[in-house]
Amino acid sequence: MAAERTILVTGGAGYIGGHVTMELAEAGYRIVTLDLCAVSGAPADFVAKAVVGNVGDQGLVAELLAREGFDAVIHLAGYIESGESVENPGKYYENNIVGSLRFLAELAKAGAPPVIFSSSAAVYGGGLSSPLSETEIPSPETPYAVSKLMIEQALAGYRVAHGLRSASLRYFNAAGADPSGRAGEDHDPETHLIPIALQAAAGRRDELVVNGTGFPTADGSCVRDYVHVSDLATAHRLALDCLLAGDPGGVFNVGTGQGHSVLEVAAEAGRVTGQTLTLEVGPPRPGDTAELVADPARFKAWCGWEPRYVDLADMVRHAWAWEQAR
Ligand SMILES: NC(=O)c1ccc[n+]([C@@H]2O[C@H](COP(=O)([O-])OP(=O)(O)OC[C@H]3O[C@@H](n4cnc5c(N)ncnc54)[C@H](O)[C@@H]3O)[C@@H](O)[C@H]2O)c1
Repeated sequence: MAAERTILVTGGAGYIGGHVTMELAEAGYRIVTLDLCAVSGAPADFVAKAVVGNVGDQGLVAELLAREGFDAVIHLAGYIESGESVENPGKYYENNIVGSLRFLAELAKAGAPPVIFSSSAAVYGGGLSSPLSETEIPSPETPYAVSKLMIEQALAGYRVAHGLRSASLRYFNAAGADPSGRAGEDHDPETHLIPIALQAAAGRRDELVVNGTGFPTADGSCVRDYVHVSDLATAHRLALDCLLAGDPGGVFNVGTGQGHSVLEVAAEAGRVTGQTLTLEVGPPRPGDTAELVADPARFKAWCGWEPRYVDLADMVRHAWAWEQAR
């Protein structure tokens, strides 16, 4: 029963945070967001209170926890660019690791509400065969991926020491936009493939750079598992139901189990927009791996999640509608 329950969504001003906020608010939860950014990721009426601040600010977090008495926390806040993390690891260690550890310390002091943590498929690294299951030993290849694995491991420690129950959700590639157009993807700079491909189709970029065509995949470009952001939001609602019912949680893949190459996505963007994209082949990005496709069986069995929008065409269409509307 969601009524009367208050959930803290860190990173609520972001892309996934906005969709999670809408999903949980529609399910009857009261949502408080905490984000460095003041512009909400969801329409304002979904958010009971939007706090602007840093999750690593222990004074602010302690005061917020004491005031609101959260039933659970969704911890999405963090820097998200793998490539940037290779160039500037300290920025990622400080924000994603140190900031999150400070945040967890305050949660433990405040009665250890259950946590859903935004982890990433990036923790697996390269060299493993797809589909990837949670039984694989992670081998993160970028500071970004290291930061995700470290917080998963910190949460395991907090579970033992403080009874803090958590679900670390290893998202594969979030894609698409709210089907009714209320939210969508808007990163600055944008580094995600689908919005970049659509911007190239719309003439807002000169071309789509394909980062590497020499990978050991069918067409030589990287293969990723794209999961619709609204399905990702539903994954959080179902995970929350489990944790609020007293489940101990765990580590879970959240993906569809289907892979699409960069060139397939580019072709789909061309089909959906009716435009011809100019493609340019560039070098592989640091830390990029050939193929990351989920085996989501553990997560589906745990909470009953089943993605609704598994067609790449749906994800690209919804993203295109958002891109055109903004
Ligand atoms: N987008 C994906 O495909 C994907 C895949 C795997 C994991 N993730 C993870 O999911 C989470 C959300 O991703 P997103 O795509 O919505 O990114 P996003 O950049 O749109 O949202 C992240 C939000 O976190 C906020 N933030 C960053 N550091 C903060 C801090 N110290 N205190 C408070 N707020 C802070 C930012 O202002 C931003 O609004 C991230 O943790 C990301 O690593 C995303």
